Amino acid sequence: MSAGDDGTGFDAGRRHWLGGTVACAAMLSAALAEGASPDPSRMPPQKGDVLVFPPEQNAGRAITASDLVAGAAPLLAYPRDPSSGALRARSRLNQILLLKLDPAKLDRIAARHALDGVLAFSGVCTHAACGVSSWKAETSRLVCPCHGSEFDPAAHATATAGPAPRALPILPLALQGEHFIVAGAFTGKVGVKKP
Ligand code: FES
Repeated sequence: MSAGDDGTGFDAGRRHWLGGTVACAAMLSAALAEGASPDPSRMPPQKGDVLVFPPEQNAGRAITASDLVAGAAPLLAYPRDPSSGALRARSRLNQILLLKLDPAKLDRIAARHALDGVLAFSGVCTHAACGVSSWKAETSRLVCPCHGSEFDPAAHATATAGPAPRALPILPLALQGEHFIVAGAFTGKVGVKKP
């Protein structure tokens, strides 16, 4: 287990990255203004992207259904562009939590987005954009360690404790062979929503 890895597969050591993300957005805008192609590794998840492990886990291979155990801690995943092979990991807004739950326990919204109980959520806290990097197995809650917000994945990651003002957005999924691919954009704004 690496430093900062709490065993859930999350990187709990890299929490303060909002400034970097804002800088990335500015660079992307500048590139677009100049007519340059955007860096695919900084782009948000695109339809058809394959969900993969981070490079330091399982050699960054594509995640399959057999990697997921119902009720277990989420896997940390990133989208990978299948055409260029670019891992979209240069924006931490692309940090994704992939987990499997009992389909019978999902609320209506979660059930609508689940693939045999498998759901993908943004791994960025809606309070102050820390990484949601812990898992509370006793209550099946995703936890943000910065200020203690908790999210219930069976209830489409509704915030159930702490200061987070809203649910973690869902990333729609589809299956392509044995791999999970992105089926659409996040259902809401990732991270902090300005008034
Ligand atoms: S940033 Fe997650 S609880 Fe504050």
